Amino acid sequence: MKSKILVTGGLGFIGSHTVVALIEQGYEVVIIDNLSNSSINVLGGITKITQVTPEFENIDLRNKEEVLGFFEKHTNIAGVIHFAASKAVGESVENPLLYYENNLATLIYLLQRLSEKEDANFIFSSSCTVYGQADTLPISESAPVKKAESPYGNTKQIGEEIIKDTCKVHPNLKAISLRYFNPIGAHPSAEIGELPIGTPQNLVPFITQTAIGKREQLSVFGNDYPTNDGTCIRDYIHVMDLARAHVVALKRLMNNEAESNYDVFNLGTGKGNSVLEVIQSFERTTGKKLSYKIAERREGDITAAYADTIKANSVLGWRSEKDLDEALESAWKWEKKVTDSEKN
Ligand code: UD1
Repeated sequence: MKSKILVTGGLGFIGSHTVVALIEQGYEVVIIDNLSNSSINVLGGITKITQVTPEFENIDLRNKEEVLGFFEKHTNIAGVIHFAASKAVGESVENPLLYYENNLATLIYLLQRLSEKEDANFIFSSSCTVYGQADTLPISESAPVKKAESPYGNTKQIGEEIIKDTCKVHPNLKAISLRYFNPIGAHPSAEIGELPIGTPQNLVPFITQTAIGKREQLSVFGNDYPTNDGTCIRDYIHVMDLARAHVVALKRLMNNEAESNYDVFNLGTGKGNSVLEVIQSFERTTGKKLSYKIAERREGDITAAYADTIKANSVLGWRSEKDLDEALESAWKWEKKVTDSEKN
């Protein structure tokens, strides 16, 4: 019998790609999503790619009763990958309680149910934002967690702490936090991808929307940083590589391969690219000229962050395989598909 995996936020950007990876690895998937930052059409995209339509429950995880009801109905959940959360830094500053409720109350309700189980396996979406501007690069998992710059960042730090403390007293609960660097790209079929609501805050969707004509011009936030070309450096990781890592991490827990019942891993490529390098790569791979200007620094941006991937490589046996060009090519293919479907 197939193991059944709950993916919360399974219609979102990283969630949907992970659902595909799970189905392709022979798992049965049930998705919980409240459609607050996703579309039900994503289910169709998943079906097109995998020929399987996963079970879907439109549940808001802030509703404790509904979470309870879900676990009463689905008694055979072998693992949970928890993506459902809000992720806009600016919005979190304006509405901190929404973020603490969305990202932490939901986590607590899930852990309450899982800690009661005989055997529970839990993967948490964390972020490299927990490191802030790290003192040394590349950033390893042993780098100190810095004071969060925003309520969003705080929810990731506190979330990790909540899981760690819970695992300490519940040995039946095994968990891994995955600290993502900058996820970009889309499934090569362009059936699923990133769907930002309104003006994209992240670099790559802003680039593709500018190239297709939805935005006039990209603003490069600052070119006076102490980097090779003055623009900020990030570790851009293909969402397909990221999705695969979730399956690897979950298998490690389910097969009882982990020495400790709580651990954290960085998920990145290990390579840093500047904003200007991303633009060049985009222009080279797509043949599109991008309109951009140098603008003021964005508040809260750090100069450089890229992952030390040794732990993920050696312990999980996972490494990223796709490069920046391939990621940007897939993001562009996706943007064209989305724009075409909006016209029809
Ligand atoms: C951002 C969040 C981070 C979060 C992550 C989730 C901020 C300050 N940080 O990371 O907490 O975990 O998204 O996806 O919001 N850039 C431009 N012009 C743009 C957009 C971005 O020059 O229009 C630059 C930024 O200055 C940065 C790089 O592109 O150097 C990447 O930016 P972005 O995609 O927003 O990611 P982060 O800031 O790394």
